[in-house]
Amino acid sequence: MTTWVGTSWKMNKTLAQARDYARTLAATDQRRWRGIQPFIIPPATALSTVSEVLGPRSPILLGAQNAHWEDAGAWTGEVSVPQVADAGAQIVEIGHSERREFFAETDETVNLKVAATLRHGLTPLVCVGEPADVFARGESVAHVLRQVRAALDGVRDTSGVLLAYEPVWAIGSGGRPATPSDIGEVFAALATEWGGAVRGVLFGGSVDPSNAAATLGVDGVHGLFVGRAAWDVEGFVGLLELVASR
Ligand code: PGA
Repeated sequence: MTTWVGTSWKMNKTLAQARDYARTLAATDQRRWRGIQPFIIPPATALSTVSEVLGPRSPILLGAQNAHWEDAGAWTGEVSVPQVADAGAQIVEIGHSERREFFAETDETVNLKVAATLRHGLTPLVCVGEPADVFARGESVAHVLRQVRAALDGVRDTSGVLLAYEPVWAIGSGGRPATPSDIGEVFAALATEWGGAVRGVLFGGSVDPSNAAATLGVDGVHGLFVGRAAWDVEGFVGLLELVASR
């Protein structure tokens, strides 16, 4: 089974920095990454540049960090799925906790964006995860299953969907890296409810070389979605090699 290893650059990198990263990645011997599906999710400004540098036959998939549910129109500040597809995106990240917390993303808008992404033949990467207080109360499974059900409500064929379980308490510089026992129950529940029905379930939140292998060892984890540890291309390549050598 394919192991997904990807990174979102979040709100980082100029075009020159994006070009350097993509050039190094394209020049790396990719034959060693057998069985791995790498992907990178640059900011919207750098999508077409990264797409051009990687070229049309690159095995590395490209994603957008967000896209609106309408195809076009008077939506100042937004980009649509057809626009990010035109710029080279094959994946659309939807519902990251930073968007839910700071940009009023709701289960309803996540659901609309999933539908729009599938309508245009792209892969939605749907992020779900509970905040620290929900984890502390032992209610992670219910929270995450509710978010996934809402995101995929009305979607007839979910086989193109990627899920990323990213507990809010594990994400970012203030986050606490998760242990396998922290996340096992949620992955088991996701496998039971969505296992055969989606393309894969990834884990994200403070993933780095010290915890990547243990995280991938958890039943039901099909990949890693990485922030800070892959913002340098050496970090990303290091993780790809680490996963390849497991
Ligand atoms: P992090 O980000 O690896 O920097 O914690 C992960 C994410 O937000 O997906």
